[in-house]
Amino acid sequence: MTQQEDAKRSVGHAAAALVEDGMSLGLGTGSTTAFAIEALGRRVRDEGLVIRGVPTSFAAERLAREAGVPLASLDEIGLDTLPTSRPPLDLALDGADEVGPELGLIKGRGAAHVREKVVASLAARFVVLVDASKEVERLGTKMPVPVEVLPFAEPAVARALRGLGAEPELRMGERKDGPVVTDQGLWILDARFTGIDDPGGLGAAIDAIPGVLGHGLFVGLATDVLVGGGDEQVRHVVRSRERA
Ligand code: A5P
Repeated sequence: MTQQEDAKRSVGHAAAALVEDGMSLGLGTGSTTAFAIEALGRRVRDEGLVIRGVPTSFAAERLAREAGVPLASLDEIGLDTLPTSRPPLDLALDGADEVGPELGLIKGRGAAHVREKVVASLAARFVVLVDASKEVERLGTKMPVPVEVLPFAEPAVARALRGLGAEPELRMGERKDGPVVTDQGLWILDARFTGIDDPGGLGAAIDAIPGVLGHGLFVGLATDVLVGGGDEQVRHVVRSRERA
């Protein structure tokens, strides 16, 4: 295992240790969260931990099934019966591609960011699992912002993103001809910026482009970040989240 994989495994295990009996969880997508899902499966098997997880992608769903983590849909969580003041999920666990100031994030390397944002927004705590290479002083300096678009609208959305200062690129499949197709059947434009000064403002501007389903800027959502370093070291950063 490389040092980076080691760090991912440490945060995955630390995240699984935060989970308590009876919790409803969001199960994120990606190589770091995969370690948490596998560790949760072991806790279900060995300790009889009772949990249910809402997966954020087909990938997370398949992994959770293999690991033996019981799954639930948003319908099964009972969103229509719970008071709107109470977050329906206790905890959402997920990775990120960049973690910036005030725990702002860029997510979506795996094209799962739209479902991930829905699930994160329903959780009392949104715990982000990263290795130290993901920390940045300014968002958008290393990674593009993934934008999920209606295929029909792709040229129009690309034009609007250029107007916001981005260089958009249609994400192409590997071992598949043509564009990456998301779990929703849509396409991804990776919008590269040379650093983002106002992630909240930019996120709102992208959301307002007709033909956009969602984007990978997560502002004001993460409550906790677990940062893995070497030697099983995990740093826990906490931010209070104000709910409207
Ligand atoms: C999935 O679309 C992404 O948001 C992932 O959560 C993010 O890319 C982190 O993935 P890794 O843990 O594999 O780096």
